[in-house]
This record gives sequence, structure tokens and C-alpha cells, in this order.
Amino acid sequence: MEKSKLLKLVKKNGSPLFIVDHEIIKQNYRRFQKALPRVQAYYAVKANSDPAIIKTLFNEGSSFDVASYNEFIEVYSLIDKWRERKKEFFIWDKIIFSNTIKDRDTLRKINKYGPLVTFDNPQEVLKIKENCKNAGLILRLKVPDSGSQVEMASKFGAEPGDASSLIKKTFDLGLKVEGLSFHVGSQCTNFENYISALSITSEIFHEARKKGYELDIIDIGGGFPALYDSNVPRFEKLAEILNKEFDRFFPEETEIIAEPGRYMVATSSTLVSEIIGKARRDNKIFYHINDGVYHTFSGVVFDHWIPNFHSFKGGKKEICAVVGQTCDSFDKISLAENLPGNLVIGDYLYTENIGAYSTASSTKFNGFEGAKILHINN
Ligand SMILES: Cc1ncc(COP(=O)(O)O)c(C=O)c1O
Repeated sequence: MEKSKLLKLVKKNGSPLFIVDHEIIKQNYRRFQKALPRVQAYYAVKANSDPAIIKTLFNEGSSFDVASYNEFIEVYSLIDKWRERKKEFFIWDKIIFSNTIKDRDTLRKINKYGPLVTFDNPQEVLKIKENCKNAGLILRLKVPDSGSQVEMASKFGAEPGDASSLIKKTFDLGLKVEGLSFHVGSQCTNFENYISALSITSEIFHEARKKGYELDIIDIGGGFPALYDSNVPRFEKLAEILNKEFDRFFPEETEIIAEPGRYMVATSSTLVSEIIGKARRDNKIFYHINDGVYHTFSGVVFDHWIPNFHSFKGGKKEICAVVGQTCDSFDKISLAENLPGNLVIGDYLYTENIGAYSTASSTKFNGFEGAKILHINN
């Protein structure tokens, strides 16, 4: 967005201001679906669960990946008034609970909807059997995630060598494994991860089918890289690889789904923050702003996100620190930003591509509410 427009918005609405451009979300969704015609996108609500974003993607025809009962209800609220059968079909066809570990209470509450849920271990199968026997199951596999911004394999996924016995055990208990899933790690720029994951998945998929287990869904998870800068490989290049691998590995009738989170929303949002203090510490300028790592910059901690700062004013640039407004010394957003040294209290900074894993994990630490959210083009 143009600087002059950002300034106008922040002067009108106050700071910190988190501006979500829904036109970009719509474009990202359409670009994803166009490049991957065999895939249905289930937006991973965790990336940014703002109801307005869910609504925009719902109107685009997106399906949804939810991690909790509350996220499920956020999506459900859009179809609450529909006829029962239409609702049932939507939930079965367009929602997946992708959290491999679900508490018993959640399972009991969602049982009546007959949802699609993921799992990766025998205890979870027993828990699902006892508390959510109407569910369809997707077995999540452990796959390589090296080079991704956020790795997943150390916490999630069944060892491929255990998959066969887990599938058998699940069917023996009277439950149905509908398919297989994986996640190659978030912001995956090492496309080899997807190739290895699809190869591992296809082997297990075909072996299970040979044994008579009718799996028919492949869920390729998230990880699709957002274009944070020009070094990020283009999504279309990944899509080309994926389309070839799909055709090589899976029959036409196999349903292929994905759970993109970051890709859909990261580039949609810009944060405008305000300099509320300026100090020279150890000969470096520290700009104290009215946001921080406990708030919109939470991704710096939880998402290994590298922030960016730009000023509206010109001036001789030097390496400055940008730190948050809380009393905690941990609240340092960046110790090396190339910014003009002549900025003063009351000047604004802006941060681009901050739509994913930012407001989603913001807290109210120290009594600060977090940024005001402004939706445009929705
Ligand atoms: C199971 C699952 N699916 C999808 C996602 C979304 O991943 P991304 O934002 O990399 O697309 C995540 C992120 O944590 C996840 O845990």
C-alpha cells in the first residue's frame, strides 16, 4: 500500500494500526487454486483467525483447517442458519480438525458433526473410538522439514514405518482411515521436502489400498511460502512440481487437499506503529514503539519471523534497535534495523507482510491491548 494512504489511515484511526487488505487475501486464494487445480485449499485458521478473514475466504469457496473447538465454532457460525443436511455436508466436506491431539471434551462435542480429524498415534485412536466414533480419520505422517522456517517433525507425525500397523489397528477398531496427511514445516522454501513427503505418502497409500483399505484423501498440509522478499522462490514453481508429482503418484479420483495458512494471509497486512521513546544505549539508537513481541510482533518469538521496519521520513540511515512498549527487557523486536537516525517521538514506522501468526498470538501483557485492526476491501 502507498505510504500516503497508510499515513492517512493511521492519522484517522490511531496507532498501532493493523491494516488487513482483503483484496490481497482474495488474490492469494485464487492464485493458489489456479496453480493447483487438483487441490482444495482448507485455510488454516490458526494463521489469523479474525472472523472477517474467515468470512472473506468462505465467500471465495475455501474450506477450513481448524485446530480447536473455538476455531470450529468460528467457521460454523457462518453456516449456523443453514438446513441440517446442508450443514452436515459442509462440515464433512469442508472442515478438517488438523490438530493430531484433541482433548476428550472437544472430541465429545464434535462427535455429532461427524468430522474429519487427524491422528498420529495409537492412544489417539483409542480416544477417538471412545469419544468421537463418527469421525473420519486422517493419519499424519512424519516427513522431512529441513530448511523450513518452523519445523514440525519433532512434535507431529507417525513414523512411516509404523503407518501400516496404525492403519490396521484403526480399521480393526471399527473406525475408518480416510487418508494420509503431512506438514513439511511452515514457510518451506526447500521444495525437496514436498517431493520426499509425497513419495513417502504414496508408498503407504498404495500399500494400504493393496491390502483392501480404501484410503482416498491425501492432505499435503501447509508450508506454502509467502513472498516476504524476492529471495523466496515463487509459489508457481512449487505448484508445477506438485502437479507433476500428484499425477505421477495418485490416481485421478484421489482427493487432494491442503492446509495453507501463512500463504493466504501473510502478505495481506501492514502494521503502522508509533515511536513513543528514543534513547541512545551503548552508542546505538533505540526506537521504542507502541507495539512489541508480546503483541503484533509475537511472530518474532513463536514463528521465527524476521521483522521489517520502514520509515515514512527520509534521513541518514544507521543501524538502530526497535523495541516494544512493555517493561520486559525481552521485548526487543530487532537489534539491527537500517533506519534514519533523525526520527522523533510521534513519528510512525510501518511493517509489511505481517498478516500471519502475528495478531493470532498477541497477548494483553502489561495491560496493552494490541493493535487496532482495520479491514479494507472486504
Ligand atoms: C496441521 C497444520 N496445518 C496447517 C498449518 C498451516 O501452515 P502454514 O501456515 O505453513 O501454511 C499448520 C501450522 O502450524 C499446522 O500445524
